Amino acid sequence: MRKVDKEGRPLEFAKESRREYHLETEKYPIPNAEHLACELQLTALGVWEPLNFNIDQSLYRVNELEIKDWWRPFQPKEGVVNDRESIMVYGPKDSDPWDPCGLAQMAAKLGYKPDEDTMTYPTIARDKLTALTEVFDYFEPLGRSFLVRLNAGGHYPPHRDHCHLNRPTFRLIAFLDEFSIDNLRWEVEDRPVRFIPNTLYYVDTRKTHRLWSSYAGSTMLVMNVLKTWENVLKVMSKLKYP
Ligand SMILES: [Fe+2]
Repeated sequence: MRKVDKEGRPLEFAKESRREYHLETEKYPIPNAEHLACELQLTALGVWEPLNFNIDQSLYRVNELEIKDWWRPFQPKEGVVNDRESIMVYGPKDSDPWDPCGLAQMAAKLGYKPDEDTMTYPTIARDKLTALTEVFDYFEPLGRSFLVRLNAGGHYPPHRDHCHLNRPTFRLIAFLDEFSIDNLRWEVEDRPVRFIPNTLYYVDTRKTHRLWSSYAGSTMLVMNVLKTWENVLKVMSKLKYP
């Protein structure tokens, strides 16, 4: 099994973990009123909701050329073949676009999983992605956010992201590749969902989801938006179907 990436750099492996929520009640307390209000309102919006932003595909293609050397393996696991690459856009202080941006990779390095809402520092990739400036400006400060590209065979097995109602952030995902429409498959709760390229979605990633790509280039922007009542209302103001 490979221990280096395509350029021969050592892989930064992810650390496998399973939380024991019931034994960590200090970390996972009963949600407060703001958490409950935000979560209930997000639930009311839906599971897979397009937002009304214009992402310019041809401008993104120009942006992409400027960041092409910054892709790094996303969250490699020993013994698992999974061709995914990422570029960090917002992360820990002083981070670079080519730093590992998977939470389990960070946990392997730091010894703990950093909170999504502490990773609000833009990398130099932020200003290169001018096709997304409107989105970044609207939701800043943003938590950990990154581009991820699934190559042929690249996948995410069934999982959830932050299903405890005290999650500090919620997820928005933009689809940045017009060819992935027929090459990237997404399922939420075992049902296929339809995405339109160059569109940003609120995705209820508390629910079990999985995805896989059959070609090299299924590119998405994954954003962690700080879960505040104001940001929930900001999503509502931008619903494609208000
Ligand atoms: Fe996920």
